[in-house]
Amino acid sequence: MWNDDDPVLDDPVGQSLGSRHAHLARRLGRAATYLTGVATFSSVPADPGAEGWADLAGLLGPGAFADMFSSPAVPPPTWEPVFRLEGRQMIWSGGDRTDRPRAASDTGVVELGADNVPEMLDLVARTEPGPFWPRTHELGTYLGVRVRGSLVAMAGERLRPPGWAEISAVCTAPEARGRGHAALLVGALAARIEARGERPFLHVAETNTGAISLYERLGFKTRKQVTFQGFRTP
Ligand SMILES: CC(C)(COP(=O)(O)OP(=O)(O)OC[C@H]1O[C@@H](n2cnc3c(N)ncnc32)[C@H](O)[C@@H]1OP(=O)(O)O)[C@@H](O)C(=O)NCCC(=O)NCCS
Repeated sequence: MWNDDDPVLDDPVGQSLGSRHAHLARRLGRAATYLTGVATFSSVPADPGAEGWADLAGLLGPGAFADMFSSPAVPPPTWEPVFRLEGRQMIWSGGDRTDRPRAASDTGVVELGADNVPEMLDLVARTEPGPFWPRTHELGTYLGVRVRGSLVAMAGERLRPPGWAEISAVCTAPEARGRGHAALLVGALAARIEARGERPFLHVAETNTGAISLYERLGFKTRKQVTFQGFRTP
């Protein structure tokens, strides 16, 4: 039975680094972060105390970017705020699959990997779906849609707290929008995640109303509001 209140969803970075992504983690004491090039997300326990923050400062080094994702933990005042972004966490609630728009017939879903990194980075630069780095594809399965050979849309799996898989990097080139590519890719990922006995979830910026309505139509519902935050270590 699915548990919408599953507490692992309140610490998706720490839960991922401690389980499915342990092989992609760097750790010091109570702090953890992803390997360079995979992701910038870092984690401290819910009650880090001065020691936990000192561990993270030691792990990242002085004057480094500490991307705390949705963690509400408050660092010491010597940590300079770098960004703050309001968003929401949405969880898969089944959805009406028959309602999903279909992609144009000359397209097909393909798996993307290390060989496709340059075109994935190029698509991300043109669409800005959120952070994506050269090794981000190692976090999970990434799928794309090609039209006449060109990558026009992609989506993939990012954070992996136990029992869940976050759908991320959902993007479609401006000239290929409104044809159901994003719906097709999110649906394809959700089907794979469900087939593994896991449940999809995602994060979206509060200002991205187009994406929120798309996700709602596909069967996601809002679990909670979150604030994404980043700081600079002293
Ligand atoms: C959000 C985004 C991924 C949507 O991509 P897309 O491929 O255009 O999405 P879809 O075509 O599947 O659906 C978008 C809309 O087109 C409509 N549509 C789908 N198929 C259609 C078709 N054949 N003809 C006309 N309209 C269609 C859908 O109904 C949907 O409308 P809605 O906004 O009312 O839900 C794209 O706008 C994008 O890349 N944005 C920038 C990056 C971003 O913000 N990503 C999300 C990060 S969380």
